[in-house]
Amino acid sequence: TDSADSHRRYRAGRSSNSIFFFFSPSFSSELTLAVRSVDLLSRKSDRNKAEHHTDQYNSDQLIIRRGQTFQIELDLSRPFNPNTDKLHLEMKTGPLPQVSKRTHIIIPLVDELQDESWEAKIVEQNVNRVRLSVNSPITAVIGKYKLTITTQYLKTGETTTHDHDKDIYMLFNPWCEDDMVYMEGEKELKEYVLNDTGRIYYGTEKQIGARTWNFGQFDEGILEACLFVLDNSEVPPSGRGDPVNVVRVVSAMINSPDDLGVLEGNWSGNYAGGMSPTAWSGSVEILRQYHREGGKPVKYGQCWVFSGVTTTVLRCLGIPTRSVTNFQSAHDTDVSLTTDVYFDENMEPIHHLNSDSVWNFHVWNDCWMARPDLPAGLGGWQAVDSTPQETSHGTFRCGPASLAAIRTGQVYLKFDTPFVFAEVNSDKIYWQRNLDGTFSQIHSEKKAVGHCISTKAVGSDERVDITNLYKYPEGSEEERIAVETACRYGSKPDVYSSPIAEDVRVEVRMEGEGPRMGGDAQLKIVVKNNSSQPRRTTLHSQVAVMYYTGVKLFLVILFKLKILEWVLPYTQYQNQLVDQAALMMTLSGRVSETQQVLANQTSFRLRTPDLNIEPIGEAYVGKEMSAKITFTNPLPCTLRNVVIRVEGLGLRDLHPIKVGDVSKHANVTVTEHFVPTIAGKRKLVASLDCRQLTQVHGVADIDVQESHCIGWMHNSVVSSHNFAITKTANLQLRHFIA
Ligand SMILES: *[C@@H]1O[C@H](CO)[C@@H](O)[C@H](O)[C@H]1NC(C)=O
Ligand SMILES: *[C@@H]1O[C@H](CO)[C@@H](O)[C@H](O)[C@H]1NC(C)=O
Ligand SMILES: *[C@@H]1O[C@H](CO)[C@@H](O)[C@H](O)[C@H]1NC(C)=O
Ligand SMILES: *[C@@H]1O[C@H](CO)[C@@H](O)[C@H](O)[C@H]1NC(C)=O
Ligand SMILES: *[C@@H]1O[C@H](CO)[C@@H](O)[C@H](O)[C@H]1NC(C)=O
Ligand SMILES: *[C@@H]1O[C@H](CO)[C@@H](O)[C@H](O)[C@H]1NC(C)=O
Repeated sequence: TDSADSHRRYRAGRSSNSIFFFFSPSFSSELTLAVRSVDLLSRKSDRNKAEHHTDQYNSDQLIIRRGQTFQIELDLSRPFNPNTDKLHLEMKTGPLPQVSKRTHIIIPLVDELQDESWEAKIVEQNVNRVRLSVNSPITAVIGKYKLTITTQYLKTGETTTHDHDKDIYMLFNPWCEDDMVYMEGEKELKEYVLNDTGRIYYGTEKQIGARTWNFGQFDEGILEACLFVLDNSEVPPSGRGDPVNVVRVVSAMINSPDDLGVLEGNWSGNYAGGMSPTAWSGSVEILRQYHREGGKPVKYGQCWVFSGVTTTVLRCLGIPTRSVTNFQSAHDTDVSLTTDVYFDENMEPIHHLNSDSVWNFHVWNDCWMARPDLPAGLGGWQAVDSTPQETSHGTFRCGPASLAAIRTGQVYLKFDTPFVFAEVNSDKIYWQRNLDGTFSQIHSEKKAVGHCISTKAVGSDERVDITNLYKYPEGSEEERIAVETACRYGSKPDVYSSPIAEDVRVEVRMEGEGPRMGGDAQLKIVVKNNSSQPRRTTLHSQVAVMYYTGVKLFLVILFKLKILEWVLPYTQYQNQLVDQAALMMTLSGRVSETQQVLANQTSFRLRTPDLNIEPIGEAYVGKEMSAKITFTNPLPCTLRNVVIRVEGLGLRDLHPIKVGDVSKHANVTVTEHFVPTIAGKRKLVASLDCRQLTQVHGVADIDVQESHCIGWMHNSVVSSHNFAITKTANLQLRHFIA
């Protein structure tokens, strides 16, 4: 009779020429070596999680990093005898595990573990229990593995197999010196792998805004969701050992075009049927929704959302990653490696030719890894951009591109280095149409693109400027050589010639921290004459707010220094603004006496108010506390359907707080009650969204104490019980509007 015990499959064993069959459980149990149960030692209190730096994952699964031993315990049907028993493990990942593809791994039992290979060793034996130490190579494929244990009794050849029902999750190991993603320094690892919140910068270089982003890579279900993202991609599991490959795939999968990736981009200002990109303040809901809905792209994202989700996925998989913001970021559409601006005979911009653009800011990612596929010296930070802009070999993705290669203009090194180079270091070339239809280069700006490249500092909330990692100092000889090297590989190799002498300059100045949302935007246009002659010039000014353009024309007689007050009244822009409240002013003109061309583009944003968050009461795990959120409407009109969202502190099941309408210049106070579920120094992040006003957010630091007085935290209870706590301590939200 077949055994009722599904864990045992009795097979015919061969010995010499005779075949033995074992049918009687009582008879075979004396001989058969079977696995009765497996303990993956995946509790927080077990060594595995702490040793592998995976104790922060809100999961009771075994999560380990490659290139490092982990331990498991087997409960056997009788004591293991090395002279007569054999035992090995098998691990399988992906839908079609194959030994040749390293997705089906056979792990032999050995006396001594060697580095670099899949092996297991018995480290402890106590009657029927054995503890195994299992080693994996640093090139192991990451992902979810199924474990099978096979035992054999040599005297009879009888074999049993035990399929364990829990999966094992294998991640990259930046703590391991031989892993391609190895990063030195505990502080750096704590920031770039283990920190689950961070700052994303936006705005313009003169008015850099910062928002706190909840990466949430350890939140419940996020690891599953990240692996689901990989499963939905075209890369087979066998390709998941190489971080270069994984990062490239993630860059393609975070955006929705051509592969039903995580986020759909939308820059139209109309976000019906989805969330406005400015309304998100973390990645958790996005990844959960994508997973829950079986891979349906989530609406909507813009660059900082694409970057925030990329940071979450890569940190979750174990690749050191950060979000990076570039100001005055060029988008080179024709691989010229220059940013070209075309004017007609009358110095009017030719819109249909001006497809290259300079964004006020653009956010992408840096991730850390060795590059054995490139010449030496190009490992370290690699730029990866998930915002869908241009296709790379037919797919919307970008990178990884070595920062060292970008800095030196080695744009022929993969992947997508020309594109990232142009974003940070292209020259802006102004062209004017001649009467015969050809174009002449009339002006070039060598410093217009790639400023204040910013990321959050290690171990603090400060902004650090990492522009020097992307390019040599502006104007230095090295920087010029890099630009000219890069351009030789572009589509317009002859751009660099004929410098133009200039004795008139035009600049734009901003008072204080710049114009505020809801008021008239004032700027000063300064025209300077540095010649010994008087100068006259016409000056066109044009301001663009996405689809909105207003044109003005000035006639200026220049003496020494002329300052023009330039005012954009609130009434003119109030219905035109979208999302970023950002405007771009283009000035252009020609000096009558010298025919010198004046050109300048300046972007600025209208500053939005902050949400103030004031925590009330003491913060203990499991204990209700509250926070007072206050906000003042800066606009002289009523805000309709205002919604506030709160996240952080491990809060779950968050509901948006519907505040409703807020009348002009009114104050709003919302008191939010909730129960923290995770101890430690945490951040509470809030954002406010409505049709008329976006990019309003705030953050509070809250130090949540471990609870010591609440009944269900018995230390004696097995720690899997700890996970039940987070499940039962559901967030309760109530709110009052003052
Ligand atoms: C953005 O979303 C709106 C509202 O759903 C939709 O009408 C529009 O086509 C979208 N734009 C793009 C470029 O997808
Ligand atoms: C993340 O970084 C911030 C700033 O350095 C710090 O306050 C916070 O405690 C860090 N969080 C974790 C989980 O390390
Ligand atoms: C444009 O104006 C900015 C200041 O607003 C100035 O820094 C920059 O040099 C100007 N560019 C040119 C080409 O004059
Ligand atoms: C102004 O002209 C002088 C003499 O021609 C020159 O040395 C100086 O660099 C010029 N300044 C600017 C800002 O162009
Ligand atoms: C600018 O124009 C004035 C008026 O013609 C002239 O006197 C002056 O020398 C010019 N140059 C400078 C640097 O002021
Ligand atoms: C709103 O609050 C600010 C400061 O908290 C205060 O100065 C202002 O007078 C208040 N406005 C109204 C309409 O209550």
